[in-house]
Amino acid sequence: MKRITILTTLVVAMFAVSTSFAQTTVKTTKKTTVVKKTTVSSAKPSAATLEEGKQLLAKNDCLSCHKVDVKLVGPAYKDVAKKYPATAANYDLLSKKVIAGGSGVWGEVPMAPHPSVPPADVKKMIQYILSLK
Ligand code: HEC
Repeated sequence: MKRITILTTLVVAMFAVSTSFAQTTVKTTKKTTVVKKTTVSSAKPSAATLEEGKQLLAKNDCLSCHKVDVKLVGPAYKDVAKKYPATAANYDLLSKKVIAGGSGVWGEVPMAPHPSVPPADVKKMIQYILSLK
């Protein structure tokens, strides 16, 4: 009689463990099915965007340190375009660099930060620069 009770308790306990285990697996699989959708923006800007970017370079102080073909204080924009392919990731990377400023990639002379230039404008300028091949 005693044995049967122990056996029943054991079976019940095992059942409880297995169901709770099953529940956790269901939970985790539910979690993994929620995949975040990332929008991959098209890397090819329109001709109008490129023209706007070109004009923004002149409106801001960029051309006092950069020229398209020749190294000035900063690297020639054509050299920048050679180094970085025109991809969405590079637009982001270089936009952050222009806004925050930086040094050490082209030499020891730092680029001043541009915190007051709207990020959307900076992106257009970068899109224009990276289209120079
Ligand atoms: C005071 C001079 C100066 C001004 C003004 C300036 N730059 Fe620069 N820029 C530099 C220097 C110097 C570097 C190189 C920094 C380095 O070696 O990391 C540079 C680097 C860059 C790079 C390449 C960054 C990299 O990590 O490879 C880009 C793109 C760029 N500038 C865009 C711009 C734009 C757009 C503007 C205007 C909003 C601008 N710069 C204004 C001096 C300047």
